[in-house]
Amino acid sequence: MRPGELHFGWEYDNVFYRAPEMGSRSRPPACGQQEKGKRRRILRTVRSLEISADYDVKGSVVVAKKKTSTQKPAAAAAQAKPAPAVKKEEPVAKKAEPAAKKEEPAAKKAEPAAKKEEPAAKKEEPAAKKEEPAAKKAKPATKAAKPAAKKPAAKKAAPKAEKPAPEQPAPQVEEPKAEQPAQPVESAPAQPVDTSPRRSVAFIGSECHPFVKTGGLGDVMYALPRVLAQQNCDVRVILPRYACIPQKYQDKMVYRGEFYMDLGQTGRSYYVGIMEYIWDGVVYDFIDNQEFFSAGNPYIGLVEDIPKYCFFSKAALAALNYMNWIPDIVHCHDWQAALVPVYLRTLFKDSPVGRAKSVLTIHNLRFQGIYNIPTIRYWTGLPDEVFEMGALKQDYVNANMLKGGLAYADRITTVSNTYAWEIQTAEYGEKLEDHLRYHSYKLRGIVNGIDYGMWNPATDPSLVVNYDITNVLEHKPENKRALQQELGLVQDEGKFVIGLISRLTDQKGLDLVSAVIPQVMDGNTQVVVLGTGDKEYEDTFRYYENACKGMFSACIQYDEARAHRIYAGADALLVPSRFEPCGLTQLNAMHYGTLPIVRETGGLKDTVEPYNVFNGAGNGFTFDRYDAGLLLDAINRAKTEYFTSRYHWDEVVQRDMAKDVSWENSARQYKDLYLELTPW
Ligand code: ADP
Ligand code: GLC
Repeated sequence: MRPGELHFGWEYDNVFYRAPEMGSRSRPPACGQQEKGKRRRILRTVRSLEISADYDVKGSVVVAKKKTSTQKPAAAAAQAKPAPAVKKEEPVAKKAEPAAKKEEPAAKKAEPAAKKEEPAAKKEEPAAKKEEPAAKKAKPATKAAKPAAKKPAAKKAAPKAEKPAPEQPAPQVEEPKAEQPAQPVESAPAQPVDTSPRRSVAFIGSECHPFVKTGGLGDVMYALPRVLAQQNCDVRVILPRYACIPQKYQDKMVYRGEFYMDLGQTGRSYYVGIMEYIWDGVVYDFIDNQEFFSAGNPYIGLVEDIPKYCFFSKAALAALNYMNWIPDIVHCHDWQAALVPVYLRTLFKDSPVGRAKSVLTIHNLRFQGIYNIPTIRYWTGLPDEVFEMGALKQDYVNANMLKGGLAYADRITTVSNTYAWEIQTAEYGEKLEDHLRYHSYKLRGIVNGIDYGMWNPATDPSLVVNYDITNVLEHKPENKRALQQELGLVQDEGKFVIGLISRLTDQKGLDLVSAVIPQVMDGNTQVVVLGTGDKEYEDTFRYYENACKGMFSACIQYDEARAHRIYAGADALLVPSRFEPCGLTQLNAMHYGTLPIVRETGGLKDTVEPYNVFNGAGNGFTFDRYDAGLLLDAINRAKTEYFTSRYHWDEVVQRDMAKDVSWENSARQYKDLYLELTPW
């Protein structure tokens, strides 16, 4: 065993039930949350770079190409508002030139294979090639070029209709509201100086609060880099520049540069713009390309998302080379960035960024980025050896981007210890259990935390009354009454209010919830659901709202501020998930003095200690098997405690608020992992 590595045993005695296939993979989303409060203007003294030379990425590296025009492309120019201070700087990219040339033959080698396998692509090629010079002149992906790039994907999509439903469907842009959601506290208290060795880390992922968030991944991509920055890390977060990022953030971005990059076997050069925003010690670099990122939502469907994230993963690495910012660690998240470790060890291995170590974090194993091999070969241009069973190849037909990333990453993490164990079993492994067991020597679980600036009942601007551990018993009922009023429920502090804040998908155990609601609604209990997702669940909850007027509220929406008020106003929060890699809602709930009722799986098991009625220990109410009867029993135990033993209930409320669910410890574990990978 290597020092510091966790190995997972097999003495797990829980009984698991196999999860039925997921009907839909929806992630209810909200594109970008409102930002409020003062900002540290000082951090916005961004050094703006305008690099007027044009660059290409051949294979892995940015190379200077002949300048055709010094004029900025129209789209890039528009996006670059406010115009950055023009400062010509000798492009660092030039240094990378020889390596780029080395990469070229590899790309060329791949061509014949593509021609054999890709009749559709072949047909498209001439069109793409013809368009290339025009595209180069017009810089941002031109409309004319679009069909040529899109058609191959569509054609290839046909033979393998993996699932008609989008992998992570359409998010909704939150309507502007009178009340704003809680925002991160800008002025962090003075931190003790961290003396651990400094490391540079590039976070690469598909969403990040407050720019774009559809679930917990967005929270983690926001919170973890900030804590790492306090733990002596130099952190850059690389994200797609989706069109749905709220304008107020777009306005803050500063043009950092641009170059062109080839992509797979498309035969085209793609525009890669870099827009930068520096905020609280973290640098956010947004990869700009209107052809891939102009849709209103981050996730559309696999047909669009596969090419999009092939492009994004490659562009992220090329951008690091271009900016000459070579991190010690490239930390990638979920399938959307899973090709990064693969590119790093193949097309980019001889480029500057090739010396970085890679960490791949699994936030949710259910989403893997699976598509037919020819399509993924076409969009990535990865060499043949990558399409072996040990790496990307899933079966005779399909390639799996996450599987490839797991094979090539130097370390794999997932977001709780229990989930790290579970995913090596057939019940939770989503068909990757063997692969994960094979790579278990480099797999470990690090539980998520929550951002105490963003989630703080004492300062939360969304709440009617702020409170802390000293006055929670006094003020929580006021928040409950305000919530009841807001949602049109019977206003009575004596009612037991159960909240549920969730994507409404199969993962979250909602079939159990809908099965027990009739028994839960006893006249003294109110239920508040906030979420969007599968129509089946949305309709079920709407039905109950209608059937139990004044006692059941179904908020079928994504509303950050309302979520905060439910955490504050509810007595208990339900998280009966079928599987839960970590789960953040139970952490938020505990921090707001709301007792979680959870199923003992994944991070729920690791973060909620079952309440012990004999000695009063524990944080919430739990059940083990995925069974409606057991959920009902857990809810009833909670009710009994609430109605008959309020003193003990209140003790747990305060204990939960005092529990450390911050990022401090977990970020330290990530830092240790980075140091372990870079022991100099
Ligand atoms: P997952 O990432 O699987 O969706 P998590 O529990 O890790 O689940 O994270 C969910 C995050 O999204 C939490 O911050 C939660 O408050 C938030 N959230 C989920 N649904 C909604 C909603 N409808 N409105 C507002 N916030 C939501
Ligand atoms: C995923 C998981 C969730 C986890 C989140 C952040 O969306 O479903 O359990 O908390 O990612 O890691």
